[in-house]
Amino acid sequence: MCVTALPWRDSLEPCFYGGNQLFKFGDKGYDTLYIHQDSLFPKSNLSYIICPMAEQQSEYQGKATMEKITSLAKRRGFVFQSSEIYGGQNGAWDYGPLGIELKNRIAGAWWKEMTQLHDDIVGLDAAILMHPRTWEASGHVENFTDPLVDCKKCKARFREDQIPAENIAAKKCPDCGGELTDTRKFNLMFKTHIGPAEDTASIIYLRPETAQGIYVNYKNIIQSNRMKIPFGIAQIGKAFRNEIVTKNFIFRTCEFEQMEMQYFVKPGTDEEWFNEWRKRRWAYYEKLGVKMDNLRWHQHGPDELAHYAKDAYDIEYLFPMGWRELEGVHNRTDYDLGRHTEYSGKDLQYIDQENNNERYIPYIIETSAGLTRNVLMILCDAYDEEQVADKGNDDDWRTVLRFHPRLAPVTVAVMPLMKKDGLAELAQGIRAELKEDYATDYDQAGAIGRRYRRQDEAGTPFCVTVDYQTKEDGTVTVRFRDSMEQVRVPKAELAVRLREEIKAYKRIK
Ligand code: GAP
Repeated sequence: MCVTALPWRDSLEPCFYGGNQLFKFGDKGYDTLYIHQDSLFPKSNLSYIICPMAEQQSEYQGKATMEKITSLAKRRGFVFQSSEIYGGQNGAWDYGPLGIELKNRIAGAWWKEMTQLHDDIVGLDAAILMHPRTWEASGHVENFTDPLVDCKKCKARFREDQIPAENIAAKKCPDCGGELTDTRKFNLMFKTHIGPAEDTASIIYLRPETAQGIYVNYKNIIQSNRMKIPFGIAQIGKAFRNEIVTKNFIFRTCEFEQMEMQYFVKPGTDEEWFNEWRKRRWAYYEKLGVKMDNLRWHQHGPDELAHYAKDAYDIEYLFPMGWRELEGVHNRTDYDLGRHTEYSGKDLQYIDQENNNERYIPYIIETSAGLTRNVLMILCDAYDEEQVADKGNDDDWRTVLRFHPRLAPVTVAVMPLMKKDGLAELAQGIRAELKEDYATDYDQAGAIGRRYRRQDEAGTPFCVTVDYQTKEDGTVTVRFRDSMEQVRVPKAELAVRLREEIKAYKRIK
């Protein structure tokens, strides 16, 4: 869907927010933002949109918009709205055939980086449902809240930190001027019941972060795997937050996935390790092939720090809607293990056998990235539009996802130039051989140019075309997504050639 920004209608109260003229957007149906002529949306929605718009105009230079990403994601089977046939479920998304492949590859790259490449880090897959005392100990029951105010007149709901301070001071609704309620804390944890009785004894939470599953297993892992400090535990898994505003496609959702690593260190060495992990996480994104100009650090000020953190830096990415948090690196001190010691009554001290059985509660350096947010980042980072001809028709332009070949959902698409004369069978045979080593696709429908475009849009880095010459000399055409160059390669050498190309891959645009 094409989105145009319309000025706020003259007949309405003039609306300015932070010096910006307001635009009217909606948030219904599949596309995250679209203009809805007949309904007024509360400014609480707009406040989230206007600031990013201002940032977008000044800083974002890429070709992606959230619109284009959302609609491409649906068109090509990356991401669908959850329960779409029932009108959709806010804050939840389904990953389609290409989306799950992309998500798995991003998770795989992170897992390899954090476990395989680090002798001192092991993996874990803890349950989503944890003992409810966990969340009292962690501080989430008490502190994991958003400050909300409601308008008594128009019933609009706002996050206190998202509306002008003068409105809060005057208790005046920024939409209608009505009276605002006192600020109340809204806990972001999803609460449900376990077992047949729905009473207070049966309350259980869906975990809002994966980290706590690591802390409660830290002693198990030391004992079972003979880990010595400093060491880390890595985990990828679902987390749930009852987010009031779930905007910008899969950026902020109620159900999402995190990739978290908790690194246990001796107190006093925490700042050194904190800096070390900042360096490592930055280098990781570089290795992943992300455009590094689109990344920056943001240190949390005293009013931003989470209840458990002594120091925290976010790695922010320049999304089409502006700079936003992608990953956090946190110095959580001995807060978590200290609290779990207190609440469980179990001794969670580390005993340093190599140092006269010295005992201490380890400090924790956490690296916490959103997996689903990384999917959005990689989609935005890869998105490009390019003029490839000047004939005045639709085919002059192509949309291309320039994924690193290691992340691309399909690595190689095999296509016969024609279906007839045995070319299709030959192409299917080649695909069957490549399948063992690569994620493949097969496409024999339509003109070859169209098929290349389809693969470009899916981010497939290599296309292999089988033609009449293949029958004569056993060579195929390999077409490269980024440069659109084509070379002839003996089919017997294809698998090796692709491996070399993937290893040597450097993004050119
Ligand atoms: N254990 C620490 C922790 O959870 P956080 O900053 O609240 O820290 C870490 O979250 C990362 O999880 C964020 O940087 C973001 O990538 C991702 N994340 C957090 N809330 C999210 C949401 N509602 N939807 C999608 N991703 C989210």
